[in-house]
Order: sequence, then C-alpha cells, then structure tokens
Amino acid sequence: MKPITSTCWTALGILCAVVSTLPAFAGGAGTAADPWLIGMSQCNLGEPWRQQMNKDIENAAKEHENIRMVFKDAQNDSLKQQAQVEEFISQGVNLIIISPKEAVPLSPPVKKAYQAGIPVIVLDRRVATDQYTSFIGADNKKIGEAAGKWIRQRLGGKGKVVELKGLMTSTPGQDRNTGFRKGIEGSDIDVIFEADMKWLGPEARKEMESALARFDHIDLVYAHNDPGAYSAYIAAKLARRDKEMLFVGIDALPGEGQGYVKKGYLAASFEYPTGGREGIETALKILNREEVPKEITLPSRVFTPENIEKGGQWLHELEWMKPGEQAAPQGSDAKVKGSAAEG
Ligand code: FRU
Repeated sequence: MKPITSTCWTALGILCAVVSTLPAFAGGAGTAADPWLIGMSQCNLGEPWRQQMNKDIENAAKEHENIRMVFKDAQNDSLKQQAQVEEFISQGVNLIIISPKEAVPLSPPVKKAYQAGIPVIVLDRRVATDQYTSFIGADNKKIGEAAGKWIRQRLGGKGKVVELKGLMTSTPGQDRNTGFRKGIEGSDIDVIFEADMKWLGPEARKEMESALARFDHIDLVYAHNDPGAYSAYIAAKLARRDKEMLFVGIDALPGEGQGYVKKGYLAASFEYPTGGREGIETALKILNREEVPKEITLPSRVFTPENIEKGGQWLHELEWMKPGEQAAPQGSDAKVKGSAAEG
C-alpha cells in the first residue's frame, strides 16, 4: 500500500469540512428510496385545532412513500417561527408548508424561501406578501359575516353582544371581526365589550370576567374560536350567569366545538377546516410540476343543536348568505329566502 501523501491529507480535510457543513436533512428526488422532504412549520401545538391540522397532514403524507415530513412547532413565537423557515431554507427542503402565527413577521422568511426557488404553501393564516406558491384556507370574512347574520337573526335584530377576538395581528382575527361587523350592519346589535383574547382560552376567560363585572346584562358572546367561546361560557357559569346569554364560536372540531353544541354550551359553532389534507395534495402537485391555484378556498358549515345530527349546514348553500341578504330566516339552518326575524 502506498503511503498517504500530504496532498491526500489536505484533500481529505477539505472533504470533511464540506461534509460537516452540509445540512442534517436535504431535499430528495421524489422516489421511495429518496423521498421529497417537506418542512412544516406550525405556529403552535398547544391547541386541539392545530394538533388536528398536523394529524391531517401526517395522515395524508403517510399515504405517499415518495414524501417525508419534518414538523417544527414554533410554540406561539413569531421569532422562533422565522428561524424555523430559515432553517428549512438552509437545509434545502423540497417544499415548505407554514401556518404562520402573524402576517407581518413571517412574510420576509416566506418571501426568501419562495425567491430561493423553494415552493411555499401557506395554510390558514395569511402572510403580508404575494411571494408564496399557494394559500389554502377557509374564507374568514365569510365565516364572520355568517356568524353576524346568524346572531342577528337569533337575537331578533337587537341585543348586547361581547366580542372576544382572535389575535388581531393574525388575518383570521381581522377577518372574523370585519366579517361579523358587516353581518350585523344596520341592526340594533350593540357590541358592548370587545377584547383581543389572542386565540387563547385562559385570556378569553379573563376578558369575560371583566365583561361580566362591567355589564349586568349580556345577550350573547361571539368568540373568534371555540376555546374562547367555551372559556367565556365557563366564566359565565361560575358567575351563575350562563343562562342569561348565548355563546357562539368558530372551529367546530368534532371533539371540541361540535361536542359543545351537542352539550348545549354553544348555540352555534362555525366550521374552520384545517386544510391539512389539501396541503399535502397541493404539495404533491407542485412537486410533480403541475399547476396549482394561488388561492384554494375551503368550504365551511354551521353546527347548531337543530342540525348537528344531520352533519351541520354548508354556508354556501344558505340563501341568507347570498349577497344582499341581511339575516338568517327563522330557524338557523332553513334555506328559504328572507330576513323575517329582523326588528
Ligand atoms: C388555533 C386557532 C384556531 C383558529 C385558528 C385561526 O391556533 O386559534 O382556534 O380557528 O387558530 O388561525
């Protein structure tokens, strides 16, 4: 055997240095032996809805042996989530899925990934740039408006309402607020108390305690998600005032909001689909170089005690959700035209 020369040692040294700076994971070729790598950055895993989104993604991904998922949890911290996207970029993943905590702080890393040629799918909450491949989510303005029209009908066109808002630096919070205000426009519904509960049950409960202390009569609580609505219900129950008012939430997970409706805690819950399965279907199309829409809007249902056994009612099938209609007709899930209950 020939002795190893100093040139060989130098070459080996350079090779080692290069290998040690390579990322831990790198993109694949889309085969079972070398699957595509998809990085998923979830803004937080502390809530059932987000756990469900990850489960939906995981279950859909398991059906395809040519993709592999890496999940990261940003623990409700935008800075951490920025760093996660940066890591995915330097690892050279084939595609990124992100459900961003807040629109503005997450826009630069999304834009950077997209401009570096990594396709980005944005799920549920939006970013403040058009530099991404596809957005998938339900229409939060429509959901907020449907909630407003439903509430307006349920209260006969007038009443004192508490609005517990989702994080107002996230787009669903903004849209569920503006949509709702549009839905109650022109009625005698008075929003007597509003607060940002940041999507969190404990915050909603604290805010609801303040509302209960300040107002001796409340007709209804509209919370931007079911954890918020349920926590408000608990606060009212502890104050022995739960029978005085109704509670309406958004998400309608089978094990959460739909269950609260069945138990009679919530008068209605509006469905907010996670988009997890659609995220994987879209990712595969992108990786296979097929065209995908820039915007994929998911449908939503309303669940009430009257329709829950029938599987809820699709919002796009409701006459009172058509443009120009003011409020739901009598019987929240009826399909007939009109706004009979107003006034
Ligand atoms: C979970 C959640 C859901 C809500 C969604 C909005 O973090 O708060 O309850 O519908 O985020 O993005």
